[in-house]
Amino acid sequence: MNFKESIDKNNIPRHIAIIMDGNGRWAKKQGMKRVFGHKNGVRSVSDSLEAAVELGVEYLTLYAFSTENWNRPKFEINALMDLLVGSLEKELPKMQENNVRLQTIGNTDSLPSNCKRKLLDVIDKTKDNTGLTLVLALSYSSRWETSEALKKFAIDVKSGKIDIDKIDEETLRNYLETKHIPDPELMLRTSGESRISNFLLWQMAYTEFMFIDKYWPEFRKDDFFESIYKFQNRERRFGKTSDQLK
Ligand code: FPP
Repeated sequence: MNFKESIDKNNIPRHIAIIMDGNGRWAKKQGMKRVFGHKNGVRSVSDSLEAAVELGVEYLTLYAFSTENWNRPKFEINALMDLLVGSLEKELPKMQENNVRLQTIGNTDSLPSNCKRKLLDVIDKTKDNTGLTLVLALSYSSRWETSEALKKFAIDVKSGKIDIDKIDEETLRNYLETKHIPDPELMLRTSGESRISNFLLWQMAYTEFMFIDKYWPEFRKDDFFESIYKFQNRERRFGKTSDQLK
């Protein structure tokens, strides 16, 4: 089946979030070290970005490094950071050509300085692009984001900037890292694991989850198209009944 052709171009999810999982296991299966898996995962990042641009997706968020990932061996962390810097350098011309804007969510202050510098450079060079926004979640976790939001929120309550009687969902949203980004309609996770792993917990209240039985380095453009095709064939009820949607 040609999934790309079968997709309804008028019903493309605005925001797709991906948990790129299984690099280590994929590498092990080939008798290689974990870092080999991460290196091969870059092609899947590039493929997903290309597919998202082709379909006109507005936001693509990739869980590239979680708060918990700091607990990995130093060697692996360094390799991931180097890969990130190298990939940003390599992808920049293509990002410009495709009108892609880069943003990040997470505690980017905790990243190595060369990595931070490269990110700021690419964010600045792509800031006026009006096509897809690529959001890299780096040193991100939802609980970190929530506790940071609470700190800022408490300061504003204390200074009287916030009227407690007027607090609603929108007030909370404005304290999150994603305040300028719509909630994802679709979340993909590769490697067959069915977990959310501290990713966009508040934002994914109504997101469709799709767990894919392939390791991240095996994920190709056609897998991306297939996921969107399947998403379009799901019924999203938002608490209503099927009849109410007709
Ligand atoms: C999960 O696989 C993957 C990561 C923690 C990092 C993802 C990073 C990349 C694909 C490379 C660079 C990123 C960009 C945005 C260019 P895992 O190591 O948890 O795999 P496992 O569960 O099999 O151990």
